[in-house]
Amino acid sequence: MATNYETHEYDVLVIGAGGAGLRAAIEASASGVKVGLICKSLLGKAHTVMAEGGMAAAMGNVDDRDSWKVHFADTMRGGQYVNNWRMAELHAKEAPTRVHELEAWGAVFDRTKEGKISQRNFGGHRYPRLAHVGDRTGLELIRTLQDHGIHQGISVHMEYTIVSLLKDGARVVGAFGYDRERGRFRIFKAKAVVVCTGGLGRAYRVTSNSWEGTGDGVSLAYHAGAELLDMEFIQFHPTGMIWPPSVQGILVTESVRGEGGVLRNKEGKRFMYDDIPDNYKSQTSMDPEEGWRYTQNDKNAKRPPELLTRDHVARCINREVKAGRGSPHGGVFLDISWIKEKMSNAPEHIKRKLPSMYHQFMQLANLDITKEPMEVGPTTHYAMGGVRVNGDTQATNVPGLFAAGECAAGLHGANRLGGNSLSDLIVFGKRAGEHAAKFAKENGAGAVNDAQIEAAYKEAVEPFERAAGGASEGPYQVQYDLQNMMQDNVGIVRLQNEMEFALAGISKLRARAAKVAVQGHLEYNPGWHTAIDLKHLLTISEAITLGALDRKESRGGHFREDFPDKDPEAQKYNNVISKQADGSMKLRREPIPAMPEELKQVIEEMKN
Ligand code: FUM
Repeated sequence: MATNYETHEYDVLVIGAGGAGLRAAIEASASGVKVGLICKSLLGKAHTVMAEGGMAAAMGNVDDRDSWKVHFADTMRGGQYVNNWRMAELHAKEAPTRVHELEAWGAVFDRTKEGKISQRNFGGHRYPRLAHVGDRTGLELIRTLQDHGIHQGISVHMEYTIVSLLKDGARVVGAFGYDRERGRFRIFKAKAVVVCTGGLGRAYRVTSNSWEGTGDGVSLAYHAGAELLDMEFIQFHPTGMIWPPSVQGILVTESVRGEGGVLRNKEGKRFMYDDIPDNYKSQTSMDPEEGWRYTQNDKNAKRPPELLTRDHVARCINREVKAGRGSPHGGVFLDISWIKEKMSNAPEHIKRKLPSMYHQFMQLANLDITKEPMEVGPTTHYAMGGVRVNGDTQATNVPGLFAAGECAAGLHGANRLGGNSLSDLIVFGKRAGEHAAKFAKENGAGAVNDAQIEAAYKEAVEPFERAAGGASEGPYQVQYDLQNMMQDNVGIVRLQNEMEFALAGISKLRARAAKVAVQGHLEYNPGWHTAIDLKHLLTISEAITLGALDRKESRGGHFREDFPDKDPEAQKYNNVISKQADGSMKLRREPIPAMPEELKQVIEEMKN
């Protein structure tokens, strides 16, 4: 019975303690409600730290031509116009205030010569826009929010996994989960719940995401009745480590290219010059000298092709490798060491601007990036799709349930610009916290249902009973097969028959997952945690594949070899996925609401 479980009661429960979760918890707590914060890992350790290069905010510190309007237009163009335009507007307008607020809370940004917060160039941003701290910006964001939040009386539950959201009728009224060390189950009652669990890269074999990135929030929300949006749009960051195999997928920040790094194939050719899309021709330099000037924030220079949007660069790398022009370990070369031709103090400059990259390659690959090129290749980095939310409040279609950060969808459309995720977290984390607290104040506590809790408990511990009954397949093989299935069939380049194969394969893997066995007991049992992750991984993999099969065009993070062009009709809708009464997953297309005239005008103005 539910009375057997220790119970915590909050006004607002935030699940996930990356940038969005921390910011939501701070905002809710500041409004005077009681807040609980759940981390799957330790506080301070979140995928947010992997957004290394900076947070995008049109402060105009380095180029005063920048404004919210340019940022809005860049975000919409990067997202190929299927973005939630309201979110893109709010994000562009509010990001500078959120960055200054972080500074007031103690974030130590790199500075310009005049002492302002320094801003660097990144792909798809017209002007230098990324406020940064070397290549450790995400880490600084988390550190600052953690320091600030810890003094606000937020109750933090570290190393907890949530297995189910609890409902009273249509409304979410809490969550049920266990502590990962001892396997003790807990009830978290709450008047409002915010999911901020980040990404889902662990559905793929090669990813920059750490072990937590199993799509928990998206899956928990979906099973509680929330709609999912545009799940097919997955960002493959062009530059992850590829060698040695043990570090494959670890992020190599875009700041390497933002600081002048160039991409070459094994013939030494800067292959990005081969393929500059028409809509970037006016902005992209064909002259290497000009590209270097651009990375040095020369206002009159055009951007180098290495700083085209991530979807584009990742596909070009893929093309070079497939054509046999790749590096020895199946990637391409990324070279920042060449800047020694331009700067007498290049090694010191590189170590100062890219300290993490310098150490990462020294320690993990025994390579000095000030002297030699890196070997890099695409890595699954970010999900543009996720839980469908109201752009102003971050409310889902389920009363009492909110979502923010990577697990929520809309802002980035078909492709996110680098640096727009950290600003997303602080802009919409704040909004989610504010509106969840408002909901909690306006609604009394709902009732928690014993039967739901018992069902969730039974499902969670079943793998032990199966082992006792003689079942033998463990969760790791199923996870491994799923990751390969997604990587090979629903990856950077997609085809109808491969995705159909994946969809059928996911169904078979689900049948296997329903039979996996785990030996031992609830304490310190990583095999059991993996068995629990499988439900989430399978749910989101099915949703990604369904969306990708339906979208018969190529747009942003969804590229189909069989439909390589954009379909103007497909720019008019989003794909919405929901759980049906019989438990099946259904997709429908929903028209994108008309954009207000003043925003349309902004986009037109910025085309010049
Ligand atoms: O490349 C990077 O530093 C990643 C940034 C981001 O994903 O926003």
